[in-house]
Amino acid sequence: MPQRPHLIVCTTCQAGHEIAEGETPPGALLFAAVAGLLAEGGAAVLSGASCMANCERGCSAALAMPGKWTYFLGNLRPEHAADLLTYAQTYAASATGTVMPSRRPASLRNIVIGRVPPQEFAA
Ligand code: FES
Repeated sequence: MPQRPHLIVCTTCQAGHEIAEGETPPGALLFAAVAGLLAEGGAAVLSGASCMANCERGCSAALAMPGKWTYFLGNLRPEHAADLLTYAQTYAASATGTVMPSRRPASLRNIVIGRVPPQEFAA
């Protein structure tokens, strides 16, 4: 099986809003939606993180893979789960990890908050 990217989803994101006590954060809903889609394998290896320091522009996530740029993503919603995995597939197929907005699902055109070069850049 080809190598899969690592998709990290912030499980504590509130999508820029206050949530009621006991309410499930949108970030946890996004994580659960992605996990459900990946239940039988799929486009990414998923893990969760608590607060990725992008609270005002959450839900937040990151896509990383050896030798490629790491992309930090924001403005996500639980309903973006399937599109996020489509993006992960395109990211994995790209030589550098760069996926122009026109090649992403329409719902994800404006989600890139920043990117970090591959570790090999530091050599
Ligand atoms: S809670 Fe998700 S970035 Fe802070």
